[in-house]
Amino acid sequence: MKNIKNAKWIRHPEVHVDKAVDFCKSFAAKGKIASATLEITALGVFEAKINGKKVGDFVFAPGWTSYNKRLQVETCDVTDLIKANNRIVIGVAPGWRGNYMAAPFHYAGNYIGAKEVAMLCALEIVYENGETEVVYSGKDWKAKESKVRYSNIYNGYIYDCDYVDAKPKSAVEFPHPDNILIDRVGEKIIEVKRVVAKKLIITPKGETVIDFGQNLTGYVEFTIKGNAGEMATIRHAEVLDAEGNFYTENLRGAKAEAVFICNGKKQTYKPPYNFYGFRYICLDGFSDEIKLKNFTAVVVHSEMKRTGYFECSDARINKLFSNIVWGQRGNFLDVPTDCPQRDERLGWTGDAQVFIKTAAYNYDVERFFIKWLGDLRADQTVWGTVPHVIPDVFGVDDECSSAWADAATVCPWQIYLSYANKQILEDSADSMKDYIDYIKTRLVDGLWVQHWHFGDWLNLDASTAEDCSKGTDKLLIATAFFIYSSEIFIKTLKILGKESEEYEALRNESIKAFLNKYMKEGRIATDYATQTACALALHFGITDNAKETAAQLAELVSECGHIKTGFVGTPYILHALSDNGYTKLAYDLVLREEYPSWLFSVKMGATTIWEHWDSVREDGTMWSTTMNSFNHYAYGCVGDWLYGDAAGIKADESNPGYANIIFRPLTDERLDYVKASLETRKGLVKSEWKRENGKVTYTFVVPEESTATAYIGGKKYVLKAGTNEITE
Ligand code: BGC
Repeated sequence: MKNIKNAKWIRHPEVHVDKAVDFCKSFAAKGKIASATLEITALGVFEAKINGKKVGDFVFAPGWTSYNKRLQVETCDVTDLIKANNRIVIGVAPGWRGNYMAAPFHYAGNYIGAKEVAMLCALEIVYENGETEVVYSGKDWKAKESKVRYSNIYNGYIYDCDYVDAKPKSAVEFPHPDNILIDRVGEKIIEVKRVVAKKLIITPKGETVIDFGQNLTGYVEFTIKGNAGEMATIRHAEVLDAEGNFYTENLRGAKAEAVFICNGKKQTYKPPYNFYGFRYICLDGFSDEIKLKNFTAVVVHSEMKRTGYFECSDARINKLFSNIVWGQRGNFLDVPTDCPQRDERLGWTGDAQVFIKTAAYNYDVERFFIKWLGDLRADQTVWGTVPHVIPDVFGVDDECSSAWADAATVCPWQIYLSYANKQILEDSADSMKDYIDYIKTRLVDGLWVQHWHFGDWLNLDASTAEDCSKGTDKLLIATAFFIYSSEIFIKTLKILGKESEEYEALRNESIKAFLNKYMKEGRIATDYATQTACALALHFGITDNAKETAAQLAELVSECGHIKTGFVGTPYILHALSDNGYTKLAYDLVLREEYPSWLFSVKMGATTIWEHWDSVREDGTMWSTTMNSFNHYAYGCVGDWLYGDAAGIKADESNPGYANIIFRPLTDERLDYVKASLETRKGLVKSEWKRENGKVTYTFVVPEESTATAYIGGKKYVLKAGTNEITE
C-alpha cells in the first residue's frame, strides 16, 4: 500500500444501499508508460475496468472483513491496460454490506452501519522518463447509476441492459477512517470452475428448471436475446421437493433471484456482484427457446491450492468425500461460512472450528484462516468473549458459546499443526489468553456454570427436532471445551517460551472438577451419559479410565446402532472409538447407509453435506423449512477421520507441518483398499493400503525433508524418505 491513503473516499450524492454505482474518470497519459499500479478498495464489492478491460482475475474484492476495523486494499499491476487516452470505470455494489435478514434472529438490521456504496483508489503511473503521476479518487470523478439496478447479497440482482444514467453526478467526497486499510491478507476470490447445465426439467407444477447436477456456490452465466423490456428471471434452489417441484422455502428470507431486463439483442451475462448456493435454476419470463448450452454455472471461492485426495473401494464413501470437498468449495468464499444459500451465509465460529482439520487436508487454507483469524481478533470483545460469527454482524456482548468461541484456540492451533506456522500462535496468543481469562471469570470451583451455550447443536439425543440444542448437558460441554482450549493455550505458551503454570493449575482444577461432577468409575455419570459426552471426555483426555469410557461409548453406539451426535460430538466420535480399540464400530458408523448416518445423504442423492442428518427424509419430505441447508460443511468433519485414520496420515504436533509424519492406517474387512495423498509444505505424502489374497500391503510415500513412522498392528516401523512398502 503506497498512495491510497492520500486518495479521497467518494460516493454518489444520492444513491445508497441496494444499488450499484459506476465511478468514472477519463484522463490522458503524459508520455510513454513504464508501469502502472492501481490500489483500490470499496465499501461494498467492486469491479474495475480500464479502457473496457477488467482489472485483475478476482471477483468480489475487497472481500469480507470486519469492515469497521479492517478493510483490504487490492494492488493490481495495470501497466498493460493504460493507453494514451484512458477511461476508468469502477463499479461498486453493496456486496456483504447489505441487510442481515435471517428472520428468526433478533439481530436483523443493517450490519455494517455504512449506508452507501463507496470507493477509494490511487492509480500510479510511472513514465519511461522516470516521472510519476498518481490519479486519485476524488470529487473530480463522476458517479453514475449502474445498469445493475439492484444488488443484495441475499435477494440477488436486477440488471437492465439498456439502462443509461443520463445525468452522471459529480462524486461526493466524505471522510472514512484510513487506519482500517490493510493490504489484502486473504486469498483472492476467483472463478474456479465452470459446470455445464445437465438437464432441462419441466416440473409437475410446470416450472422450467435446469439441473447442473451439483450443488455449488457461484452464479449462472447465460446467453439471452429476449424482447426489449422483457424481465427474464432466474431463481436458484438447492433441491427439488418430494413431488419434483422447485423448492426454495429453505432459503427463508433470501429471494436469491437474478433478473435480467432484455433489450432484444443477443448477449452473454454474468453478475459481477452476487453469488448463490444452488444446483437448480428455475427460469421465468424467458421468451427465447431454452437451450442448455446457454446456461453455465460458474463456481466461485477463495483461491486455495487443492492439497488432499482420498479414495477407497466403496463408491459411496468416495461420493461422501466428493460432497465434503464441494462443501468446502461452497463455503470458503473469503470467510468460512455456515452455508452459502439462505439469508445467513455467515462466518459461524463453531462450524469453522468443527471443520478446519478436514479443510486443512483438502486445501491449503493457511492464508484463508490467517485472514479470518485477524478478523476474529479484531472482533473479540473487551471481555474476551468471541462473537458467534466473524465478521461479527450481530454485535454480541459479554456472552459467548463454548465450542463456537473455541475457534479462537482450535483454529490457530490447526494452522500451526498443518503448516508449522508459529507466527499464527504469536499472533493469536493474546486472543487465546483473553478468551481463557474470560472463562476463568465464569468458573466456579473449576466448572463453567450458569451460562448460555448452543450445546451439541442438531444432535439426535433431544426428544424433538425443535430441541436440537438440548441433549448433552451444555455445561458439561462447556467445561470440557475449557479444558481442551486451555490445553491448546498452554501448549502455545510453551512453544512461545512463555510461562504457563497458572493455566496448568487452572486446567488441572477443572479436570478434577469434571471427573468429580460428570464421571463415576471411569464412566460418564448416568444423568449425563451421551455419545457426545463420552467422545469429548475421551478425545480431550478428561477421563481417569479411558478403557471404561470407551466401553461406555461403544455401548451407547451399539445400543441404538447409530450416531446421535450433533456439531459438538461429531468431529470426535470416530476418533474416540478408533483410538480406543473400537475401530470396527467406527467403520460401522462410517459405512452405515440408513438414517442417521453420513451415507444416508449420499443414498438420498446429496452432492454436498447437509445441515441435518435428515435434511431430506426417506420419503422425500424436508426436516424443516426454517433451518435446512443442503450445503453446510460441519458434518463433513468426518473427512479428517478418512484422511487421518482410514488412510492414516497424521501431523505430529511435536514436529508440525508434516516435518515428522505419523502413519497409523486402520483397515476394515469391508474395504479392499484405501488411499490418500497430501501435498504438504515438505512435499507429497501418500498412504495406501490394499487387501490381496488375505494380506494387506501398505505403501507410504515420505517426502525427502520429512521423517516418518508407521504404526501397524501394534508394530512400529521407522520409514525412509521415498516409497516404503510393508505387507502384513
Ligand atoms: C447456523 C449454524 C450455526 C448455528 C448456531 C445456524 O443458524 O447455520 O451452522 O452454528 O446457527 O447454532
